[in-house]
Amino acid sequence: MMIKKRIEELKKKLNALVIVHNYQPPGIQELGDFCGDSLELSRKAAGSRAEVIVFCGVDFMAQTAKILAPDRKVILPAGDATCPMAEMITPGELSEFKNDNPGAAVVTYVNSTADVKALSDVCCTSSNALKIVNSLSAERVIFTPDRNLAHYVSLHTEKEIIPWHGFCPVHENITVDEVASSREKYPDAAFMAHPECRPEVLELADHIVSTGQMFEVAQKDPRKIFLLGTETGMVYPLKKRIPGKEFIPVSSEAVCPNMKKITPQILLDSLESLSPEVTVPEKYAVPAREALEKMLRTG
Ligand code: 13P
Ligand code: SF4
Repeated sequence: MMIKKRIEELKKKLNALVIVHNYQPPGIQELGDFCGDSLELSRKAAGSRAEVIVFCGVDFMAQTAKILAPDRKVILPAGDATCPMAEMITPGELSEFKNDNPGAAVVTYVNSTADVKALSDVCCTSSNALKIVNSLSAERVIFTPDRNLAHYVSLHTEKEIIPWHGFCPVHENITVDEVASSREKYPDAAFMAHPECRPEVLELADHIVSTGQMFEVAQKDPRKIFLLGTETGMVYPLKKRIPGKEFIPVSSEAVCPNMKKITPQILLDSLESLSPEVTVPEKYAVPAREALEKMLRTG
């Protein structure tokens, strides 16, 4: 209680906005001003007038906020919260891949480092990837770093998708067998999967959606039970916003350790000290901003 009160006082005093990804622990979701998926949080950061943006998520998300709101102080309370997928391609590798595929446009998933975004034509998130790819005039598209999202997009576009081979270890570990045994237990349930899952898992899904889109789908689909092919943290916000329905992860092991690093005390400490502060060197921030703003204009 004391922590909550102090956080509220500091938010007011500092004109700080606390934005929280849907996978964050319940206690952090309760302390935030706004919870959402990567796209919603990027838009919130870009549009906010707050002087301080505290980003409860992982590093690429906070860097995106800093790139889109360069005049604001951006804080990532757990400075070591990284995304392994974002580390799966380096700028050197992307440059080489571009040289090997001349004429192809480059679409980079926001789960990437700022220097890789800087080498890209446009960014995307899991909720707008297909729309972004289809908006391009190029017929050949390098899609990086997520091979599973790339595969999903390739099934729904006329364009040639040239995937990089990165993946999310959390979603990659969700198996067909886990989906099958959950379906056996709950035969009337709908299965919602995040597009970071493997293609064979996505083939079994009733809905393939970003974390933010899961709320809309669960409200519209008349079924009462939803099996989740994503990080287990989604259960809390889904249950909170749609209390009449049940949400069951197909794998209890689908936990992103980096998303669980922030505690209320760590959040409070970061507001007290205004650290760890996120910075992005100008030479990457300027071209990365172009790629991100193009995404925000398109979808
Ligand atoms: P969303 O954009 O769907 O929130 O996904 C972000 C993410 O990191 C999924 O693992
Ligand atoms: Fe990265 Fe996967 Fe964690 Fe999302 S769930 S932040 S893609 S490691």
